[in-house]
Amino acid sequence: MQPGIFAFGATEHLFMTFDLDAAADKKKALQILATAANPLTTDGVNVVVGVRPSLWAEIADADDVPETAADFAEDKGEGGLMMPADQHDFWVWISGDGMDICWDWAKFVRDSYVGIAKIATEHRGWPYHANKDLTGFEDGTENPRRLEAPSIVGVDQGKPGADSCVLLYQPYEHKDFSWYEQDVEDQEKAIGRTKLENIELEGEDLPDYSHIARTDIDQDIWRRNVAYGDMGTHGTLFIGFADEQWKMEDMLDRMVGIDGIHDALMDHMFVTGSGWYTIPSVDALVKFLPEDDDED
Ligand code: HEM
Repeated sequence: MQPGIFAFGATEHLFMTFDLDAAADKKKALQILATAANPLTTDGVNVVVGVRPSLWAEIADADDVPETAADFAEDKGEGGLMMPADQHDFWVWISGDGMDICWDWAKFVRDSYVGIAKIATEHRGWPYHANKDLTGFEDGTENPRRLEAPSIVGVDQGKPGADSCVLLYQPYEHKDFSWYEQDVEDQEKAIGRTKLENIELEGEDLPDYSHIARTDIDQDIWRRNVAYGDMGTHGTLFIGFADEQWKMEDMLDRMVGIDGIHDALMDHMFVTGSGWYTIPSVDALVKFLPEDDDED
């Protein structure tokens, strides 16, 4: 699997999506993406790249295409809970311990794509008190452990798309500061865990509308959420990886209230755009590396 999915310690994160120009050579665009995912150690950045599922299925070898990945083609949910689709062709996550190195690599990627693809969205993410999101709660507690994660999150060996995974990318913008205007007990009920000790609420203490009750469907995923934004516009970038798309699809359905109960988080934030991306395996990406790329 792409190593950056499991890289920790970065203090800066840049997320960019790109859209192909109308007449662009798709193979060339994939070559650029593979090169973008292949920095030198001295570049100092971690890079993870993703491709619109239908585009990957069109270009990659059939053996490298996971069976279940599909584009985020339609908005999900209704009214104030609606999660709009915002599907782009490529997704690039650059992280490191300084914005200077992230900036340089982002510019390299952007410059490489001139005449082929244009930046569609950009977000700068940052860790909030190490592992918290902007709700002030620890985020990632129920992620699998590090040694176990790749086999849980990657498509199994022997299946098409082995070692690839699917990414769900969604910025959740806070509605002003309304989250912080609730008292802590209400925040804890909304998440389903205590804020200070990070203990899961249980039994009757765990409301049906809590985020935990909505997303705990006995399926492990790998979440790498970070905070983004400024005092005016800010929130959580949801970065979720799984071996099969239906797992997060089901979680989203439950968050927007497909069964009549919606996630209490959604009362205080809204999704600005949603996209699915196939995160190709290293072996599948290497096939697109231009031949002169590893001469250094
Ligand atoms: C603004 C958006 C979100 C925020 C602030 C958020 C925050 C959190 C927090 C604080 C926890 C509890 C601690 C932990 O286990 O990490 C959690 C758990 C979880 N979240 Fe989210 N989350 C968000 C969106 C999502 C989305 C979109 C999904 C799925 C598509 C999701 C899936 C999960 C899962 C599976 C758990 C673990 C549930 C369990 O088994 O206990 N989250 N999230």
